[in-house]
Amino acid sequence: MVSYVVYGRGCFNQLDEILAPRRISDAPMIFLLDHFFENKPLVNRVPLRGKDEIIFADVTHEPKTKQVDEMAATLKERFGTISGIIGIGGGSTMDLAKAVGLMMTNPGSSADYQGWDLVKVPGVYKAGIPTLSGTGAEVSRTTVLTGPVRKLGMNSDFTTFDQIVLDPELTANAPANQRFYTGMDCYIHCIESLEGTYLNEFSKSYGAKALELCREVFVEKSEWDEACDDKLMMASYAGGMSIAYSQVGVAHAVSYGLSYLLGTKHGIGNCIVMNHLGEYYPAGVQEFKAMVEKNGIEIPTGICKGLPEEAFDKMIGVSMGMKPLWENALGKDWEKIMTREKLRDLYDKL
Ligand SMILES: NC(=O)c1ccc[n+]([C@@H]2O[C@H](COP(=O)([O-])OP(=O)(O)OC[C@H]3O[C@@H](n4cnc5c(N)ncnc54)[C@H](O)[C@@H]3O)[C@@H](O)[C@H]2O)c1
Ligand SMILES: [Fe+2]
Repeated sequence: MVSYVVYGRGCFNQLDEILAPRRISDAPMIFLLDHFFENKPLVNRVPLRGKDEIIFADVTHEPKTKQVDEMAATLKERFGTISGIIGIGGGSTMDLAKAVGLMMTNPGSSADYQGWDLVKVPGVYKAGIPTLSGTGAEVSRTTVLTGPVRKLGMNSDFTTFDQIVLDPELTANAPANQRFYTGMDCYIHCIESLEGTYLNEFSKSYGAKALELCREVFVEKSEWDEACDDKLMMASYAGGMSIAYSQVGVAHAVSYGLSYLLGTKHGIGNCIVMNHLGEYYPAGVQEFKAMVEKNGIEIPTGICKGLPEEAFDKMIGVSMGMKPLWENALGKDWEKIMTREKLRDLYDKL
């Protein structure tokens, strides 16, 4: 779990104070800032000291192992070591910060650690500050990376942030579509966790709370306001906590295949898949569709149209590789239920 959490409007202003005891002699703090904030006022609020630096994270594409390795190599070359890394942005920027923080101390390539519990050495100090709510990346023990052979997280006890700063003001004015897609990531985490076979009381408690908050925001509210940003930030936190002790499910397993092959982004990819999962999550999908309509969001269709057979094979391979997700969703005998043919049909519908 994350050791230190602050929450509240304006708490970003406490960052200097929070980082002070974590500074190691003159080694810098590196602030990895989502490129959306380039030339925005937030840049001037970053509490730079000494050799500290702001690096803008280009998140046009979701994080890759190569990008992580290059960033860590550059930092090692320039500074030897750093006091810590602070990821400020959406899930992509937070994941990059986690992965680079780990690769400052672990040998080899980040691709060597894609899997479960392969990281053996703690990274440098890592802090996460979300500017979009929904992924739960701020609390999760993974950082999702696309590598040479797979899209898979570095799942480990060392991956979790040491500190998170949850300031809902930072999510204000995010574009409605992006906010919805990332928010739905949280909603889908809840459905997959609550309907999964791995569920226990820990996951259930957090999942139920997150679901309630998502409903308040996307079902009950008629207009987006500050309270929505406040609630969705806590929904993301609770949704992330829920999957910490369970797993995601069918939507994520299928969407990982899309993302690996077509580069479809996580939030929108999950929505594209969720639209067709009535067989697995009937009530969740019905509510999802109602939220899409109420919030006036377009979910793309036909994205697999005309793809060659090898492309389907590749996506099916990536998806089938997510064994814990399928096992959570469909139980120990999942391979009897979700055959390659069935998955092929599902991809065809997207
Ligand atoms: N580690 C985990 O547990 C976990 C869980 C779910 C998803 N993820 C990862 O998170 C990523 C998706 O994250 P996301 O949905 O937050 O989107 P994102 O981080 O990919 O960002 C999406 C876009 O929104 C922009 N943006 C960020 N903050 C903004 C703001 N306040 N206003 C306007 N624009 C802003 C970004 O620049 C980017 O263009 C994927 O890479 C996914 O794999 C990780
Ligand atoms: Fe997700």
